[in-house]
Amino acid sequence: MKKILMTGGSSGIGKAIKDILTCKDYQVFNIGRKEADITCDLRDTEALETKVKEWLKTHEVDVLINCAGIGLFDPHETLSIAKIKNLIDINLTAPIVLSSLCLRSLQKTQGHIINITSIEATRHAKYSALYTATKSGLRDFGHCLFEEVRKSGVKVTSINPDMTQTPFFDELHFKPSDDEATHLLPQTIAKSVWDVLQIQGVVTDLTIRPQKVGIAKR
Ligand SMILES: NC(=O)c1ccc[n+]([C@@H]2O[C@H](COP(=O)([O-])OP(=O)(O)OC[C@H]3O[C@@H](n4cnc5c(N)ncnc54)[C@H](OP(=O)(O)O)[C@@H]3O)[C@@H](O)[C@H]2O)c1
Repeated sequence: MKKILMTGGSSGIGKAIKDILTCKDYQVFNIGRKEADITCDLRDTEALETKVKEWLKTHEVDVLINCAGIGLFDPHETLSIAKIKNLIDINLTAPIVLSSLCLRSLQKTQGHIINITSIEATRHAKYSALYTATKSGLRDFGHCLFEEVRKSGVKVTSINPDMTQTPFFDELHFKPSDDEATHLLPQTIAKSVWDVLQIQGVVTDLTIRPQKVGIAKR
């Protein structure tokens, strides 16, 4: 059975990915604080390294899916240093560290890294400087890494979703509008992960958007 190591599998997009891939006969291991096979707060890089290295002693990775992430969309001068560090640690440092830890195994399995970035990785919006820095950083990291590892058979994909109806917006002052044409469903992103895994060749970049624009204030 092929093995998936992922983050973010407890909620929203990651939970939908975990559900679909489990149904397709993958063995999915989630790293996170809740519903986790490897319990770890991604902000704790040392613990992440120790726990994943231990797991890798008895498992190979066929697919690494970096999905965990948080959002913060406020004027940049209002963000505390602690919040800035948290967001960078979760959205950017953890996926880069996990890629590094898993790369030898992925080379053995001719595996695949899938990074869930964001539409914000592809554009420049106000109040998104920090979030965009992490998501465009992760997207560019993936594109560079693919050039490095393609000769050893490893695939790297960036999936860049637009607004998707998940708990991501619970702490934010906006959310997708209720009109279903204005937002994506987590199952749609999960299905795209499955499609990307099936394709012969490599999808390096996939942007998914709803048909219409619509945001609701909280
Ligand atoms: N929803 C959208 O509109 C949208 C659009 C574009 C991109 N994205 C991206 O999609 C990804 C998934 O977001 P979502 O919408 O599914 O949000 P979500 O429902 O809020 O899920 C966030 C996930 O991140 C994990 N996480 C957060 N902080 C963590 C920490 N300190 N340590 C370990 N895990 C942590 C959570 O796991 P635990 O709480 O169990 O630890 C949870 O599984 C994120 O990277 C987000 O940036 C979302």
